[in-house]
Amino acid sequence: MTVHIGAEPGQIAETVLMPGDPLRAEWAAHEFLENPVCVNRVRGMLGFTGTWKGNPVTIHGSGMGMPSLSIYANELIQEYGAKTLIRIGSCGAMQSHVNIRDVILAMTASSISTPSVGIFKELNFAPCANYQLLTAAETAARKLDAACHVGGIYSADVFYDERPDLNEMMTRHGILGVEMEAAELYNLAARHGARALAVLTVSDHLLTHEALPAEDRQSSFGDMVQIALEAAFA
Ligand code: HPA
Repeated sequence: MTVHIGAEPGQIAETVLMPGDPLRAEWAAHEFLENPVCVNRVRGMLGFTGTWKGNPVTIHGSGMGMPSLSIYANELIQEYGAKTLIRIGSCGAMQSHVNIRDVILAMTASSISTPSVGIFKELNFAPCANYQLLTAAETAARKLDAACHVGGIYSADVFYDERPDLNEMMTRHGILGVEMEAAELYNLAARHGARALAVLTVSDHLLTHEALPAEDRQSSFGDMVQIALEAAFA
């Protein structure tokens, strides 16, 4: 057990899928894994371990934002030996050619700051996805016939953004979408020699102000789980 994860040693798989929402972790574990067992419920942050095509997999919530993700990813990697961590979550689109429901594979994650700023100091470290996971996820997305974009995203510190000028600059620099976790996941994976990727579905559009209808959320989420599992074991 760690401070925030109640799992016994050996109860966390080397491959971990991380949705922000713990209830999504529960849904995905029951939908996609064989014999899912709940291995964490500390603070309601649910984690489940089972198998997918015989391969051990844990699906564990990250919570929202980089500080929350950092707690769980640090403990999963450093205390439980997680080696492949794939975020599955939603993002807001920042380009007109990116549509609601499209999948974004985050090649890089720009940010204003991350919890790692105190370590990197003057260094502008470039958080990037694991290339093997990235290419395998793209293949899996094409197989599912999902509209898929590969490129840079922005990991924001706030959901309620007061800087339209900053969003406009991101758009001008080709950033595909905005979410709140990937950059620190990539930082931590780099620091500890793990593999990481963020697979994101566009849930809202910053330019058109469209939003994914509630009834479509489950199926979009299912596609991300499928892409993440196939990428992890490609
Ligand atoms: N901003 C930040 N995070 C998000 C958004 C957004 O618009 N949509 C989904 N996650």
